Amino acid sequence: ELSSLYAALLGYALGSIPFGLILTKMAGMGDVRSIGSGNIGATNVLRTGNKWLAAATLLLDLAKGFLPVWLAWQWFWQDVGWAALFAVIGHCFPVWLKFKGGKGVATNAGVAFALGLPLGLTYAAVWIAVLAVFRISSLAGMSAVIASAIAALYFGPTVAPLVLALIAAIIVWLHRENIKRLFAGTEPKVGSKG
Ligand code: G3P
Repeated sequence: ELSSLYAALLGYALGSIPFGLILTKMAGMGDVRSIGSGNIGATNVLRTGNKWLAAATLLLDLAKGFLPVWLAWQWFWQDVGWAALFAVIGHCFPVWLKFKGGKGVATNAGVAFALGLPLGLTYAAVWIAVLAVFRISSLAGMSAVIASAIAALYFGPTVAPLVLALIAAIIVWLHRENIKRLFAGTEPKVGSKG
């Protein structure tokens, strides 16, 4: 259906805006991809030492996941799944950066909130709790992503379990280097230089 295509395009168009890269470049901090993990997400922006830029990256990456799903609810409500999936795909594989983007945790948080408050709150609660205990961003992010996919079996639209499971698979796969470091015990804590 054409409306599915529009929803996917809207998700991709917004999701693929690399806010972490844009903000750090605008602030004259060079290319965030050349420091820390090389990622363009808020965790790695924090490794520049500027927590305001990191917070702005987190919020904007979250907003670009929320907005297309919310708009899809308004315009073509049956196609929220396509907007959700492609917002995260846009962030993770942006054509503008030769398909090498971020890892999707913040954008998927926005997606979860737009799919329903219970899903968003599950995501936020698990993310914050794991972060508070372990202080490791990748572990907190992956836990939240998986928890929200499971919560989607109980809350949210019918399409949510499938879409959030697909997104979880993409996000975990993109964290494979982080997972190796987690098992090796060398994954850095939040705020350290990495
Ligand atoms: O959202 C990305 C986060 O989970 C890990 O980031 O820079 O530590 O690989 P990073």
